[in-house]
Formats: sequence, structure tokens, C-alpha cells
Amino acid sequence: MDQFPTLKKDILEILVTRAQLKEAVEKLGRTITRDFKGKDLVMICILKGAAIFYSDLIRQIDLPIRTEFMAISSYGSATKTSGVVRILKDLDHDIVGQHVIIVEDIIDTGLTLSFLKKNLEDRGAGSIHIVSLLDKPARRKVDIPIDYSCFSIPDAFVVGYGLDYDEKYRNFPEIGVLHPRVYSQNENSPCSDD
Ligand code: IMP
Ligand code: MG
Repeated sequence: MDQFPTLKKDILEILVTRAQLKEAVEKLGRTITRDFKGKDLVMICILKGAAIFYSDLIRQIDLPIRTEFMAISSYGSATKTSGVVRILKDLDHDIVGQHVIIVEDIIDTGLTLSFLKKNLEDRGAGSIHIVSLLDKPARRKVDIPIDYSCFSIPDAFVVGYGLDYDEKYRNFPEIGVLHPRVYSQNENSPCSDD
């Protein structure tokens, strides 16, 4: 990782290395290939955080999947606590009767995913499964079953491999804990109750 001295200055500790990510994504790809064999499968990437994980994962799945991208936002006044999120970019095609896998970067409170799952159920999906690279169980506010998750992490704000702070650090190739110095002066502290 000497290739990233600038970004690494802001990382307190690496939680998941490149090698661990690669191995976990390959394993998950094999599992999904096995579990959804013969099914009409749509995989939905939740932008932007899941983009890197998604692009690695779908290349490990030996099935004729359909790709879709959604962007949602949990920003805005009362929306955070209620779990109502805004859809900024919607699916290109309908999902009636189809087997859907939602691909997320991290499940924190679970509010975003529980909204999204309900929303897709209402559109008549045949089945909905949830894949998340990371799981932060300590912060959960709603009970949401995660069907496939790669790593469970402690209650720390992490960046890299798609995850951001203030739209930065997504290109850092490992999962690391962001140094609190980066956000301690900032009003947009990621540790606020969002
Ligand atoms: P939830 O509704 O609280 O589960 O929110 C999940 C979303 O919050 C994720 O898709 C991320 O965009 C963001 N998020 C939660 N925890 C972290 C973190 O540690 N680092 C970066 N983004 C995070
Ligand atoms: Mg984010």
C-alpha cells in the first residue's frame, strides 16, 4: 500500500485488506452463482457506495444477470429519522416477478435498506435478497435481514473500496477507519446520529 501515501495519512487503521476483499468477493460470487442458478436475476447496484464492490462482484457470477443502478439519498430534514429516502435515480426497467438482489456497501442503521426493500416489494418483485459488503450491527435501528454479507465491522466510520466521506476516499482500495482529525472540525461529522 505504499502506492497510496497521501490517502493513507487520513486512515487510522486498515480493517479489510485488498486480499481479504478479493477472496470474499470471489466466494460470494460463487455462492450467488449456485443459489440463483436457473433464475431470472436482476442485480441492483446502490450508487455510489456500492459501485466498486458491485463491479467486482458481478464479474464473479456465472449467470446471465441483468444490471440495474439506483441512487438514493437519505439527506434532508426529517427523512433520516423516519427512514424515508429520496430516489435520485430509479431503475430503467420494471422488476415484476423477477428475482432481485440489492447490492449495498454497508448496512448501518438499516433505515435506507428497509425503505428500499419495501419500495421494490411494492413494485411486484418475485423475490428480494440483500447483499452488503459490510455490516455495522452496533448501529442498527430497524431489524432488516441481510442475506449475504462479507464483513461485520465495529462501530467506526470507514472509507475506501467505494465508501466515502464527503465524496472522497472512494478510490482507496482497502477498507480503513477514517482518522477523526479529518471530520472533527467539520459540521458534517459522520458520527452524528444519521
Ligand atoms: P443506513 O440507512 O444507516 O443503514 O445507511 C447506510 C448508508 O450510510 C450507506 O449506504 C453509506 O452510504 C452510509 N454509511 C454508513 N456508515 C458508513 C461508514 O462507516 N462509512 C461510509 N458510509 C457509511
Ligand atoms: Mg455515503
